Amino acid sequence: MKVLLLGSGGREHALAWKLKQSPKLTQLIIAPGNAGTANIGINENIDPNDFEAVKKVALKHEIDMMVVGPEEPLVRGVKDFFLNDPELASIPVIGPGKRGAQLEGSKEFSKDFMFRYGIPTAKYKSVTKANIEEGLSFLDEMKSPYVLKADGLAAGKGVLIINDIDEAKSELKNMLDGKFGAASEKVVIEEFLDGIELSVFVLTDGSAYVVLPEAKDYKRIGEGDTGLNTGGMGAISPVPFADETFMKKVHRKIIHPTISGLYGDEVPYKGFVFIGLIKVGDEPYVIEYNVRMGDPETEVVMPRIKSDFLELLEATAAKRLKDYTIEFEDHTATTVMMVSGGYPEAYEKGKEITGLDQVTDALPFHAGTKLEDGKVVSNGGRVIAVSATGNDMKEALAKSYKGAETINFEAKYLRSDIGFDL
Ligand code: AMP
Ligand code: GLY
Repeated sequence: MKVLLLGSGGREHALAWKLKQSPKLTQLIIAPGNAGTANIGINENIDPNDFEAVKKVALKHEIDMMVVGPEEPLVRGVKDFFLNDPELASIPVIGPGKRGAQLEGSKEFSKDFMFRYGIPTAKYKSVTKANIEEGLSFLDEMKSPYVLKADGLAAGKGVLIINDIDEAKSELKNMLDGKFGAASEKVVIEEFLDGIELSVFVLTDGSAYVVLPEAKDYKRIGEGDTGLNTGGMGAISPVPFADETFMKKVHRKIIHPTISGLYGDEVPYKGFVFIGLIKVGDEPYVIEYNVRMGDPETEVVMPRIKSDFLELLEATAAKRLKDYTIEFEDHTATTVMMVSGGYPEAYEKGKEITGLDQVTDALPFHAGTKLEDGKVVSNGGRVIAVSATGNDMKEALAKSYKGAETINFEAKYLRSDIGFDL
């Protein structure tokens, strides 16, 4: 099979690495990809949000399947674009259509969905300029801290958690005035949930589903979970506190009603559902849905899957998941993200990365790199996710950190405490 994978991050490098292991794969095209994916398949330097360019690549390589890595092409409707084009309509796409992608593309849509299907989540109120007074009085009814979320996609930056009520009210106004552009013309105010977070991944064909390994990611830039939010500084799978009893609850109260809710709403959905959960006491609540895999979670989830991943995606496309049993590896996987100094604020790119080929006991997944005059250089805030496996978390982490020591670039930074809370 010839597969086109859209995206350019560590998630896509990890997906490419896993797909490459399938005997069914004859060719992998990654668009635009990075210096890491260039060693696995053919990179095509296009913007995944430029659907005409995606079409050209799809036809040029006569692909048999497309896998969409990031959310933006999905929210913009790349799946619908394929379905509506006679030359592309027969190509299976892993990823939901525009309607299903609203689970991530609109916080209000996803909250409404959860309430209608009785899926545990924080209480909320959706506010625009037209009903701002209701929003302000909703804040008065809530206890500190206050959670304000831009309704639309805001590159992971659209959530504010504020202690002071007056500041919360003034930020609500700022958001409605366009603090996050059109994404915050509508704001969802939420009750604050106090607990520990984890990410659960489901692959569905629209009615049946398989649950992939769960993971915990570390979002803050600083040690001990301090400082600004990032895309993710590291991840671990499995998650020790997600024991059998807890995961049974997650299945019953969250995963099952989510997939049957999509089915009940007649939302065709073939793709990943990333459920961001928080464990409050012993109970799971949904913080958010994403319609793609997580990054850097994919960099630990892929090394934990034993099954042929392309076969799994094929079963998804053919609606055969009902009869599919996924197999996992027993080991623990960890990843440590090496980032550009300054990230998630201003940082420099184009720094030469050395030592990659001296890493022996770990998998350096490229997150933000490109090839320049035959050299691998940094090309983003998150640069390399160093994944490793071991009999336990300690062993895997030691390998990740050893790998990260071997790889060098100017002003590299990483968190040395991934897993500190487990
Ligand atoms: P989101 O983009 O919805 O995942 O929110 C980003 C982060 O904000 C989450 O990973 C949580 O750490 C935090 N967060 C979001 N909503 C809540 C909530 N209702 N209570 C507590 N923390 C939250
Ligand atoms: N690591 C969180 C995300 O991919 O959204």
